[in-house]
Amino acid sequence: MILYRQLSPIIILSGMAFFLLSGCTKDVKEENTNIPLRIRQPAHFPKPVYTFDNNPPRRTVYELGKRMFFDPILSLDQQVSCGTCHAASAAFADPRGSAVSTGIFGRKGLRNTPALANLIWYPHFNQDGGINHIEVQPVAPINDSLEMGVGIANAVSILQNHPEYPELFARAFDSDSVTAARILWAFAQFMGSLVSDNAPIDAYYRENKPLPDKAIRGKSIFDEYCAGCHTGVLQSDFSFKNNGLNMGSHDIGRAEITGESQDEGRFRVPSLRNVAYTAPYMHHGQLNTLKDVIEAYSSSIADHPNLDPGLPVGGFGFSSQQKEDLYQFLLQLSDHSFVNQSF
Ligand code: HEC
Ligand code: HEC
Repeated sequence: MILYRQLSPIIILSGMAFFLLSGCTKDVKEENTNIPLRIRQPAHFPKPVYTFDNNPPRRTVYELGKRMFFDPILSLDQQVSCGTCHAASAAFADPRGSAVSTGIFGRKGLRNTPALANLIWYPHFNQDGGINHIEVQPVAPINDSLEMGVGIANAVSILQNHPEYPELFARAFDSDSVTAARILWAFAQFMGSLVSDNAPIDAYYRENKPLPDKAIRGKSIFDEYCAGCHTGVLQSDFSFKNNGLNMGSHDIGRAEITGESQDEGRFRVPSLRNVAYTAPYMHHGQLNTLKDVIEAYSSSIADHPNLDPGLPVGGFGFSSQQKEDLYQFLLQLSDHSFVNQSF
């Protein structure tokens, strides 16, 4: 009995040493699994909506999400990845500049591809706010027959039967079993890491660094006419508004989700971060350039039963100087380092 008690710690210790040593040579897997990933939360931003509580950021999970994001095998024709429509060079909007998205077999989608940035601060997704959780968002394009069309159940089996993915899942989740939940956690970590906080407007908010003169005038015009909707550092209050610029689009927008007639023709106010990179503009890509957008707010706001009361029918009637100043201000929302990152 006594002997046993004395021996047992040694047995336990040598057992642990064996485990640790064999762990070292077995693979780098266990080490990698636990490398935490820091997802930036800039001090001048509000509190994020998505806090990764059930999905702790780790390097291996992020890497898996990144690989899937750029991998066309998750589409029915094996040609379209998330990155086909959302590319860094276009601030994760469509690098092809199409008015509406183009998915599998060249099929035209229904809406313009939005830019992606700062998504963990979003209370809802898509231009009608139809999805309310970042982890659920990728199910939409994977299932959509105009986008990737492969279906989430199929995606699980494609990845499970792939020569490399099960190992990547094992590194990320300690199990090579591919599940929809794990796919979605990994996507959420990659998407959540797309933090854009390095535009001149950030330096202005963060450390009071002045904007160029032209842009300062533009900022006061923006603050007066635009910031009521395109609010704060995220440049959106995330409400649903009709801005009088639907220009012949028959998309009913928010009403698609709520079924309410007062929501017809309303779309979520988009963030204007990196807007210089994301042409064309509006839910249907109905305006080609930023100058067209400014001109439209100046002279083409159309009446609509749900037009926001802050927007005058006909337009704001800006002078050419005001238009130029506004344009200069919108350029200050560009985060060049964000757009120039390579993956
Ligand atoms: C064929 C082009 C296309 C593909 C492929 C695609 N998307 Fe999108 N994405 C869009 C369009 C268009 C929307 C806007 C849909 C809407 O507003 O109804 C969108 C919306 C989003 C949004 C919401 C953005 C916002 O502003 O609310 C996120 C996040 C997103 N996509 C991520 C992804 C991920 C992750 C994948 C891959 C699994 C993916 N997308 C694949 C075109 C695409
Ligand atoms: C009443 C709210 C409201 C006001 C005020 C407002 N906007 Fe908008 N803005 C919106 C909505 C809603 C959309 C999206 C419309 C759509 O998708 O069709 C939008 C879209 C845009 C877009 C296109 C973004 C993209 O990625 O497609 C730009 C640029 C823009 N607004 C700039 C401005 C400027 C500049 C002003 C001031 C002159 C302004 N907005 C005033 C609500 C508003």
